[in-house]
Formats: sequence, C-alpha cells, structure tokens
Amino acid sequence: MAENYYQEELLICGGKQLVGEIELSASKNAALPLLAAVLLTDSPLAIENLPELRDVHSMCEVLRHYGVAISPAGSTFTFAADKLLCSCPPAPLMRSFRAGSLLLGPLLARCGYAELPLPGGCAIGRRPLDLHFSALQALGAQIEVAEESIVARADGLSGAQIRLGYPSVGATENVLLAAVLARGETVLENAAREPEVVFLAECLRAMGAEIEGAGESRIRICGVERLDGGTFRLPPDRIEAGTWACAAAACGGELLLRDYAAAENAELWRILQQMGAEVRQQPRGLTIAARRRLQAAEVTTGPYPAFPTDLQAPLMAAAATAVGLSRIRETVFENRYHHAAQLQRLGAVIGVEEELAVVVGMPLKGAVLQAQDLRGAAALLIGALAAQGESRLGGLMHLRRGYEQPEQKLVRLGADIRRILPIKDENNYRNRQILML
Ligand code: EPZ
Repeated sequence: MAENYYQEELLICGGKQLVGEIELSASKNAALPLLAAVLLTDSPLAIENLPELRDVHSMCEVLRHYGVAISPAGSTFTFAADKLLCSCPPAPLMRSFRAGSLLLGPLLARCGYAELPLPGGCAIGRRPLDLHFSALQALGAQIEVAEESIVARADGLSGAQIRLGYPSVGATENVLLAAVLARGETVLENAAREPEVVFLAECLRAMGAEIEGAGESRIRICGVERLDGGTFRLPPDRIEAGTWACAAAACGGELLLRDYAAAENAELWRILQQMGAEVRQQPRGLTIAARRRLQAAEVTTGPYPAFPTDLQAPLMAAAATAVGLSRIRETVFENRYHHAAQLQRLGAVIGVEEELAVVVGMPLKGAVLQAQDLRGAAALLIGALAAQGESRLGGLMHLRRGYEQPEQKLVRLGADIRRILPIKDENNYRNRQILML
C-alpha cells in the first residue's frame, strides 16, 4: 500500500465515454464485520478474497494488537485467534476508520473484557455509538466511555430482548457478534436489513451459530457454547458496483459489471433507469448503458432497501451532468454533503439546505479538487471524468479506504487518468512525477 498517498494526486482528462467491463472487488463493508468475527473462535478462519483496502489493513493491524496471528497465502488470509491478548490498540490507528467499534461485541463474548480507543471514520456526521452501547448493556455488559477510549466488561453475556432506536448497521452487527456466544436467546427488533448483515449472519451460522431472520427487521439468536472457524469468500462490493454505474451514467458509454447480479441496490437501478440509463441483467453480469445525457432525479436515502446513503455522493455527481433540477434528500447522516462544494468547482450548480440538496445539471469543466471523505472522493472522481478538460484530485487517502485500484479499473474503460507523485530530487525540491497507469 503506497504510504505516499497523502501527497499523491490523480490527473484526470475528462469528457470520455466509459466502455468495457469491470471485475468488482470484494465488499469492504462485508469484510470488516467478518474480520471482527475472527475473535469469536479459537479455530482458524480463512477469507479467500480479502480486498486490498486501507480500512481492511487497519482492521488487520488492530486484530494483531489483540494477539491474532495472520497468515497470508496469495489473496487468502488465515486468522488464528486462539491466544488473545488483553490489549488496547493505538488511538491513531483506531481513529483512522469506524469499524473498530465492531470489536466490542466479540471481545465481550469471548473474553468478557474490551478496551479500545474511540473509533474515527468519515467526517459525515457525529456518528455516536449509543445504540451499540445500550444493546451490549442489555446483554449484560458494563461500558465506560472515558475521554478517548471505551472500556467494556461482562461477567458472561445473557440473551435479551433488544429494540434498536434506529436500524443501525454497526449496532446490528455488534449484537450478532455478541449474542452468538451469550447464554440464552436474544431477539433484536428494528435490526438493519443490509446485505452485509445477511452475509455476516450466514458466516456466523457456518461457524455454528444459531441465527434466524437476518435481512428482516427481527432477528433471533440462540447463544451457543463455542464457534468453529471456516473458510469464507466475500461477496462483490455493491457500493463499488453502484459507484461505477453512476460513473458510466454520467460519462456515457456502456459498462459490464462482470459476474454481478442486480438483486442488491434495486433502488439505484430504478433511479438510473428513471434518469435515462439502460440497466440490463446479462448472462455475464449487469450492464449499464447511457446513450444520451441523463435526466434529473428525485432521491431520498434511507436504511436498506431504500436508496443507499453510500451512493448519494456518486449519484449527485451524475445528477450534476443531467438535464434539469434534481432533488436529493440525505436522511441517514447529518453532514454528508462535503462533496457538493467541490463539485461546484467543476461548475456544478448545487444548493444545500439541511438534508436537501438541489442540483441543476450543467456541462462540467475540469478543476483542482480535494476529497474529504470516502464516497465524496468517488463523487469527485466521477465529476472529473464527466468534465471537459483536465482535473487534479487530491485527498486520495480517503478514496483508498474503500476502492481497490480505482484508477486502473477506469483506465481499462478508456478513462485518461495518471498518478502525480511527489518526488524529492537531489536539491530536495518537491517536484512531481506523472505516472502513466
Ligand atoms: C455502516 O456504517 C457502513 N460502514 C457505512 O458505510 C454506511 O454508510 C452505514 O452503515 C449506513 O448504511 C460499514 O459497514 C463499515 P449506522 P455504520 O450505524 O454502521 C446513527 C462507507 O462509506 N447511529 O447504520 O457506522 C449514525 O450516526 C461507510 O463505506 C447512532 O445514532 O452506520 C447514522 O446517522 C460510511 N447511534 C445512522 O445511525 C449509534 O450507536 C446510521 O449509522 C449508531 C449509529
């Protein structure tokens, strides 16, 4: 993983159609809870297609702090958590991503103790953990939150009736990761229904857990004595699929998402079709074609199966090129429009008032852009690809948290993208080197 992504930029010469096929990487948001589940068993657990992403690296680093041995073999990684350490990972590492909070459940279930610095993640809202804490307390945990860290204790977890105040994905996953080893039955009401929750439950069941109803709002878990390991293959990343679909819709052309089925993200495909893109399930995967300028859209994000909040920014970039006025309502996070100001640098006409963003589509022109969060970075990449002329995109450390080799995948579709790397020459001047991809 190039550590110089803090200065790295992309040089994008936009205005080209995207034509060709992409093989999606494995899902970041399915990988992270499965990595947390590694802590639940003293048997080896292997993941065959772990994606090369910053957040995955960070989670593996955190697991090592708790004593997990990680053995890579090609793209398969085997995790051994037979000897856990009572440790506390470094705060800077935990602050670099959000999913560290998912370790609370398994550590409480396996060791009865968890100490971890407060997690970080994209600056898209306050992102409290109150729903995680109250659910784990219902299972019998005592939780103290100090200035910068969380200390949780439990003298054995016991099943409980839990109702989430909001169908939080992370809180649902934390309850699953704790209740599978709790004494007795847990019923979780108002659970998140995201595909990543279903995948986690499938893996836990394969490890010996007793779980019913994952994917619905009511999940029932019967605790068991212990869990086995196993070998798992992650699903393709549905948010990456939606991101490239928005790129193809914004730039025009035809994209095949190889071996991908449209079952997930149904709301996105509906919206893109409404905007004039053609979405077709083919034998080799899902094709998205845009043969004319998009029409405007009306979109409201929400918990699954509503339109995914993680695709709000990529869709806004597509709407910025469309004919007419689009309305986007972000109802999941309270501060997830950072990309709007940067899209305006490309000439986009966007007004934001609390949860509502109004976008009037315009022909976009290249500009210098700086990403501030993961999905906002993807939106700026899409905007730059659709804009006429040259753009430079900085803040790539955000993009690399959730997209594996994005520029290489897009270059294979005909995009003109080069990496600009800082080099220190003999006089220590900070020159820049432009790399063809
Ligand atoms: C997961 O985050 C995803 N991350 C997010 O993807 C995604 O945007 C989000 O779910 C919603 O789908 C991973 O899976 C690693 P939430 P999570 O708990 O679990 C509030 C990406 O780009 N809330 O469902 O953190 C919260 O503030 C990332 O890949 C509480 O109030 O999301 C938010 O407003 C970004 N208290 C809403 O619920 C809590 O205790 C949804 O959050 C927990 C959450």
